[in-house]
Amino acid sequence: MLFAFDDAQCRSLVEAHGTPCFAYSGVVAKAGFRALRAAIPDRVRIAYAVKANPHADLLKCFASLGASFDCASIGELERVEALGLPAGRTFFAGPGKRVAELRKALEMGVRVQAEGFEDLARIDALATRETAVNLRVHPAFDIDEGNRIIGGSGPSAFGVDEEDVPALLEKAARLAHVRIKGLHVFAASNQRDAAKLKAIHGAVLDLAKRLHEAHGLAFEQIDLGGGLGVSYAPEEAPLDLAVFGQGVSDLLARHAWFKGELILEPGRFLAGPCGVYLARVVRLKESRGTRFAILEGGINHLIRPLLTGQPFPVKVVGKDAVKAGGTVPYTLAGPLCTSLDRLGEVRLPELAAGDLLAFGTAGAYGLNEGMTHFLSHPVPPEVWVAG
Ligand SMILES: Cc1ncc(COP(=O)(O)O)c(C=O)c1O
Repeated sequence: MLFAFDDAQCRSLVEAHGTPCFAYSGVVAKAGFRALRAAIPDRVRIAYAVKANPHADLLKCFASLGASFDCASIGELERVEALGLPAGRTFFAGPGKRVAELRKALEMGVRVQAEGFEDLARIDALATRETAVNLRVHPAFDIDEGNRIIGGSGPSAFGVDEEDVPALLEKAARLAHVRIKGLHVFAASNQRDAAKLKAIHGAVLDLAKRLHEAHGLAFEQIDLGGGLGVSYAPEEAPLDLAVFGQGVSDLLARHAWFKGELILEPGRFLAGPCGVYLARVVRLKESRGTRFAILEGGINHLIRPLLTGQPFPVKVVGKDAVKAGGTVPYTLAGPLCTSLDRLGEVRLPELAAGDLLAFGTAGAYGLNEGMTHFLSHPVPPEVWVAG
C-alpha cells in the first residue's frame, strides 16, 4: 500500500491541520509491526530504528507492541528514555559516538554497538562494572544495495573492517570492564527481495560462526541491522513476509551452534508505509518545454529524492487519471531558491493551482531526514560575535 490515507481522509486532514503537513496512520503502523512480528520466530527481537521517524506517538505505538529501539544519538536516546521502558530494550549504534552520548547510554542500561576500539576504550573508562557490548563489523562480503545508504562494501565509516577484527579483539581482551557479547552487521538497504535478505543474513551468520570458532566469541546476540524494503511505486512488489520469516527460521536451524537471540532493526519497513506528506500546488509554469508544478514544500520537507535519486509516490487528491483524460509530465519543484529543490519528474492528471498532492510511503526518512533533524542530533548554536 503506497498511501496510508484515502482521498477523503487526506481532505479532512488538511481541513484540520492545513498544508503542508505530514500525517501518520497508527492503524497502518500497528498492522505493519504485527505482520512482521507474526512472520518471524520468537527468538528474533524487533528493535525499531528511531532514525527512520522519531515521532513520539510512533515510538509509543511500537513500544506498546513490545518493540525494542535502535538509537543513533543522544537525542534519540532521550526520546526513547521518555517512553519509560525497562532496561535492555535499547541499542546504540553510530560511527561518531561522543563520550557524553556513551555515558548517557550506560546510565540507561543501553547495549552499545561498538564501531571501533575508541568506543570500547571509552566505554571501559566510563564503566564501573563488567559491561556487555556488541561489535559492529563492516563485512568483507559484497554489500548489494540500490541506494547509497551504507555505501557498499568499500571503505566505510561504519564498524570495524572484518580483516581488522583479530587485532581489535587482542587489544579489547586487555580492557577491564568491556566484554564483547554480540555482533552487529548491517549489510542491506531497502531490500524487498526476501531471497536476497536471506543470502545477506546468511552471510552475516557465517561471519559470526567464523568469529565464534576462531576467537571463542560466545555471542548472546547477533544484530542483523535494518534494510527491510518498502515499495515506492505501484510496480514494486512488497517484501513477502512469509518467505522472509521462513528464511530467518531456516538460517537459525542451519546455525544450531548459535543459542542467542537475533535482532532486526527495521526503520523504513515499520515507519514508511504509515506516512503521507500533503502539499498544495502553488503555481504552474511552463519553461522552455518543461512543465513545472511549484509546491508549498520541497526538499526542506522531503530531501530523500535528492539524496538517493528515489522519488516518493505521488497522487493528486480527488483527481483520477482516467476521468481526467490521462496524464501529462510535470517536474515537481519546491519553493526554495535552488534548482536542487525537486521532488521528482512525474506524470499526473492536468494540475491547477490549489490542487492537493499526497506523497506516499513518507513515514520514514521524511521530515526527519532534513539534515538538522536527522538522527535527532542537537542543533548547533549560532553565535554572533560583534567585535
Ligand atoms: C545501525 C542501523 N540500524 C538500522 C537502520 C535502519 O535501516 P532501515 O530503515 O533501512 O531499516 C539503519 C539505517 O541507517 C542503521 O544505520
